[in-house]
Amino acid sequence: MESGAVFAGLHPNPTLLLGPSRSAIQLLPPLTDKKSLSPHLLPLQTAAAFSQKQSRFVPFSNNNTNSLRVASPASDVALESAEIDWDNLGFGFMPTDYMYMIKCSQGETFSNGELQRFGNLELSPSAGILNYGQGLFEGLKAYRKHDGNILLFRPEENAMRLREGSVRMCMPAPTVEQFVEAVKATVLANERWIPPPGKGSLYIRPLLMGSGAVLGLAPAPEYTFLIYVSPVGNYFKEGLSPINLVVETEMHRATPGGTGGVKTIGNYAAVLQAQSAAKAKGFSDVLYLDSTHNKYLEEVSSCNVFVVKGNVISTPAIKGTILPGITRKSILDVAISQGFQVEERYVTVEDLLEADEVFCTGTAVVVSPVGSITYLNKRVTYGSEGGVGRVSQQLYSALTSLQMGLAEDTMGWIVELK
Ligand code: COI
Repeated sequence: MESGAVFAGLHPNPTLLLGPSRSAIQLLPPLTDKKSLSPHLLPLQTAAAFSQKQSRFVPFSNNNTNSLRVASPASDVALESAEIDWDNLGFGFMPTDYMYMIKCSQGETFSNGELQRFGNLELSPSAGILNYGQGLFEGLKAYRKHDGNILLFRPEENAMRLREGSVRMCMPAPTVEQFVEAVKATVLANERWIPPPGKGSLYIRPLLMGSGAVLGLAPAPEYTFLIYVSPVGNYFKEGLSPINLVVETEMHRATPGGTGGVKTIGNYAAVLQAQSAAKAKGFSDVLYLDSTHNKYLEEVSSCNVFVVKGNVISTPAIKGTILPGITRKSILDVAISQGFQVEERYVTVEDLLEADEVFCTGTAVVVSPVGSITYLNKRVTYGSEGGVGRVSQQLYSALTSLQMGLAEDTMGWIVELK
């Protein structure tokens, strides 16, 4: 994709001096307002931190078998980067330079939006999103490739999922093209916040919400589509080491006929109580069961779940209560391409407890190996001495190699911003 096309159709705020090309964007004065800086930011220094040239490609940087080994390309890229301690990125919010925003009235369609300085929103206290939770979000990532290019992973899939969710939530949505162009523009405008290769990614968070004021229960009269970004590292505090899950038997994430199959904001608020209780007991997160029989696996708070038995990889089928994860779908295809048999079906707690390996997938968590499951106070461990299972490691490496541009994109999943 020519970078010049990225801004086609956008109406940048004239005060921002945004140009039509990536090189023009790089000329933007960096925002160094200390008030907007996160504690992660280091004292001002030059970008020399990752302009060092390295001549070797290092396939894996971590020899600890208890953690996933990360592909770690040596970088020959010199960038004007944000002043961040790139080695200690977690999955926390960090304000960046720009966000994308566009509004549209109910019954109308979105036109093209604009980039504006990142900042707080002004909303009526009566906004549909605040009062009735009329909102959806998406999550995708941009990776910095070792040649300096930027890679997006299947952004059109997020666009389509947002559109499907918008029907369920009675909201207008941007077209797939508008969505993808907006993502590209936001990423390029915040390019200096993309971690160097092997250090993490730029998490992209599109939001679609009822921003108009409404009091009686009804769809809001106005909608806002916005995109903000934040540099991130590993999602779980365990890093790339296996996580410990507890199966929740009292609370449920979703019900048949509800909104579990779309990425509505309320789905995530609904898991906080069980998740907080689990974390207080030392678990990494919660695995939910179906609300009808209380015996079929659904998903973890923020990701999909897979069980491995021999050469068969199984995951709960999409049936309205499970989020159709883009990483989930991609891992199924990657697994097939690597000779595994995959099954989308009802997966029981017994299947889980008898599995050889268990892992989770999601944009934020990528592929996260599970070290133990606790169900009704019984704890089952996977892998030898809590190490990463062979299949989890193999699929993680295959997927991240694609996402980071270390393997040829035979699937046609990568959108490269040159
Ligand atoms: C993602 O994986 O991108 C998600 O949307 C999950 C979120 C709770 C971090």
